[in-house]
Amino acid sequence: MADIKEIDKQYVANTYARFDIEIVSGKGSRVVDSNGKEYVDLGTGIAVNTFGLCDEQWTEAVTKQLSKFQHTSNLYYSEPCARLAELLCNKTGAKKVFFGNSGAEANECAIKVARKWAQDKKGAGDYSIITLKNSFHGRTVTTLMATGQDVFHKDFGPFPEGFLYAEANNAESVRALAENNKCCAILMEPVQGEGGVLPLTKEFVTEVARIAKEFDLLLMFDEVQTGNGRSGTLYAYEQFGVSPDVVTTAKGLGGGLPIGACMLFEKTETTLLSGDHGSTFGGNPIAAAGAVSIISRLDEPCLQGVRERSDYIISSLTGKPGIKSITGMGLMLGIELEKDVNLVLSECISRGILPIKAKNKLRLLPALNIPMADLEYAVRVILEVSKQ
Ligand SMILES: Cc1ncc(COP(=O)(O)O)c(C=O)c1O
Repeated sequence: MADIKEIDKQYVANTYARFDIEIVSGKGSRVVDSNGKEYVDLGTGIAVNTFGLCDEQWTEAVTKQLSKFQHTSNLYYSEPCARLAELLCNKTGAKKVFFGNSGAEANECAIKVARKWAQDKKGAGDYSIITLKNSFHGRTVTTLMATGQDVFHKDFGPFPEGFLYAEANNAESVRALAENNKCCAILMEPVQGEGGVLPLTKEFVTEVARIAKEFDLLLMFDEVQTGNGRSGTLYAYEQFGVSPDVVTTAKGLGGGLPIGACMLFEKTETTLLSGDHGSTFGGNPIAAAGAVSIISRLDEPCLQGVRERSDYIISSLTGKPGIKSITGMGLMLGIELEKDVNLVLSECISRGILPIKAKNKLRLLPALNIPMADLEYAVRVILEVSKQ
């Protein structure tokens, strides 16, 4: 049989540096490679497989919809899309939801909403959006520009104007940009995921919410990675005690199928009108049916389980030999190591656990219901391979 890795290398665009592993199946928090080796999955496809692989309830919801119809255009109504929007609004207080297919698209929608909102309210010119240095908001040309890391800005210009970068956890830097520029919004990740699993502080977010009010800016959170229970609450912004105007999410929302959502709260409820935005696949019935099953299960006992697992990881690793620090929220954790992260990662893989990386940290994004026995094994391996 042809070697899948060789075919991939020959025919798939060179955009990914893949590990030398071909995944062939999985169940829950276990994945199996083409050699039959089993691993404890600590990456969940980068925070996507919320309840692990082939979770029964999710699979049933998706296959049930699949046997009815797989797609219709947004020219017609369909139940999963309506039910998902209703569920998200009831659980968050959002008023409307726009569905796309990815995190980048959810953020594109937020950017369009912010600009149109400002245009309607303040007139032309107040189009700038403050984002944070070291952020990550996606790979479309506009969301790359929203991303506050120069490394993403080379080779793909010219970029659209109107993005300003403040220092994370430095409210004065946000204030200075808001004072000296014509802005419409501030967009930030509650925890900078790709940037190294760095959480914002409550003091900072509270002050930014105050600045947003003072300068009449929309307060927008990118919860593409932190959302859908991963932080230990349904959305991470809840833990800051602020009221957002726009929240974007994707990844874990679909539990494994592509879907993105831009949630519009009171101020932005009527900003988008017919024809202002759209997506052929947005709100796809199968992805939405899967997402309904995910969001309906994210109740308090489930979120409590996320927090308990998080506490277990943090307390087991903190202060141990080879571990410098642990950052993050819930089951989105970054482990700063004394050893080189690539070395630790490859030892983890050979010992049968699959964490991922974020900058120089080991990143853990396990399923929200990962069995404690799997987590205990993973922690044991991390401790052993991190020691000098
Ligand atoms: C915070 C954040 N925003 C946006 C994105 C882009 O999401 P997608 O790859 O689904 O377009 C990511 C992806 O890692 C992300 O972590």
